[in-house]
Amino acid sequence: MIIAVDGPTASGKGTIARALADHFGLPVLDTGLLYRAVGYQTQLGHGDPDNAADALAACDFPDTLLDDPALRYESTGGLASRVSIHPAVRKALFQRQVDFANQPGGAVLDGRDIGTVIAPHADAKLFVTASPEERARRRHAEMRARGVDVTYDAVLADVHARDARDTGRADAPLLRADDALLLDNSDMDIDEAIAAAIAFVETKVGRPG
Ligand code: DC
Repeated sequence: MIIAVDGPTASGKGTIARALADHFGLPVLDTGLLYRAVGYQTQLGHGDPDNAADALAACDFPDTLLDDPALRYESTGGLASRVSIHPAVRKALFQRQVDFANQPGGAVLDGRDIGTVIAPHADAKLFVTASPEERARRRHAEMRARGVDVTYDAVLADVHARDARDTGRADAPLLRADDALLLDNSDMDIDEAIAAAIAFVETKVGRPG
């Protein structure tokens, strides 16, 4: 069984994908981490993330980079969003994601183009979102709790910039697949959103076990 979880930045899609993986006993891939690794590796090599050749050269990053805490930084998310615009980068990361999706037994993947490009044949697709203000509020609270000194307005501006780049790019833009459940969790807490996601997948594929 393949479960595709797409959505914009700070929508809760990663948490929901991990909860689905736990519930259904499946491996999970956070595909954003691959783009984050490319963005970060580009910067480590003093390349320009807006330059396709520089970003492509960074696609052979070492796997150990995926464990680097720097990949989780907000600034790395911005680099990831910039390198993800280049079709050559998307092509270089394509097979790795397709292979993960098609492994025996199935998988959960979260990202921007899982239900549309990586696994259009997925058994269940979710498009997880929340209003930009609510996503910025959550991201701001999370960053403040980690001791990052940032204003809500700066986080909201970043959310808007990331949304514009991720939905506006020509190649595999962030898009809800026609057959994806729209899970807007603006007025839900995370437990309610997870319960709704599990209930939807169960209507598609049945209960685990
Ligand atoms: O999910 P995330 O915030 O870690 O993703 C970081 C960036 O990577 C996101 O802004 C766009 C890009 N990305 C993508 O283009 N396609 C994916 N499947 C996942 C992420």
